[in-house]
Amino acid sequence: MDRVKGKVALITGGASGLGRQAARRLAEEGALVVVTDLNEVGGAAVAEELGDSGLFVAHDVTKETDWVRVVQASLDQFGRLDVLVNSAGVGNMNTVEDCSLEEWKHVMSVNGDGVFLGCKHGIGAIKRTSTEPGAGGSIVNISSVAGLIGGHNLASYNASKGAVRLLTKSVALHCARQGYNIRCNSVHPTFIDTPMVRSMIDNADDPARVEQKLARQVPIGHIGEPDDIAWGIVYLASNESKFMTGAEFVVDGGITAM
Ligand SMILES: NC(=O)c1ccc[n+]([C@@H]2O[C@H](COP(=O)([O-])OP(=O)(O)OC[C@H]3O[C@@H](n4cnc5c(N)ncnc54)[C@H](O)[C@@H]3O)[C@@H](O)[C@H]2O)c1
Repeated sequence: MDRVKGKVALITGGASGLGRQAARRLAEEGALVVVTDLNEVGGAAVAEELGDSGLFVAHDVTKETDWVRVVQASLDQFGRLDVLVNSAGVGNMNTVEDCSLEEWKHVMSVNGDGVFLGCKHGIGAIKRTSTEPGAGGSIVNISSVAGLIGGHNLASYNASKGAVRLLTKSVALHCARQGYNIRCNSVHPTFIDTPMVRSMIDNADDPARVEQKLARQVPIGHIGEPDDIAWGIVYLASNESKFMTGAEFVVDGGITAM
């Protein structure tokens, strides 16, 4: 209880999956939460679930004008911004030979440009209050194990998540150097049971076989659940992690230990 009390958090991709669960857990732990997403129906439903602690703002993370509007809406509604969780993202399973330039650009735009714009505009708002006594800013960028290790059919996804990993370190070092008291860390999940992964399983010819195959790749023996990541996000958002910046928070059931 109250691990992030008094903080205002903005979560992109908050209508679904990891973003939605992070919104719920952050609100439970005392944060006021701005949920943003392209999916207006889903995002509004999550904000409604959070009651007075939630606000939904429609948002395309690839558009800089949207970022300016969304950050301003957070300040107007809740008076400050402390935490930014960049969770909006898209998947793509293609080899370098099969990936079209349009697909590549789309994945890089949502997963790469979206996180860059979030950090750029998020810092501007967070630094207004992050050096106040007891305060502290935190940017949490959702990368992937695919930002750490390659896959033969993940050309654009690997590239975009690798970009998130190193952008995070640059942002962390910049904020530290400027004395902003804003930390920035990347999160690296493996397969988690969200609509992104569920649609991949359900669209396969033999969904049960695909789910078993995914589970077999995880040393712990099963795919993860959204809370496995959401609690990590709560930790990174809170002052409990105040000495942690530029780090890779790996939650992968042991995949990268092999
Ligand atoms: N689920 C996993 O196994 C897994 C593993 C590693 C990393 N990730 C990453 O976690 C993040 C969340 O994924 P998820 O599993 O919750 O997926 P999801 O599909 O359930 O949720 C992603 C959300 O992002 C939103 N979105 C997509 N494009 C957008 C845009 N241009 N602007 C604003 N919102 C947009 C979607 O509407 C959706 O609500 C992604 O960055 C994903 O790459 C997921």
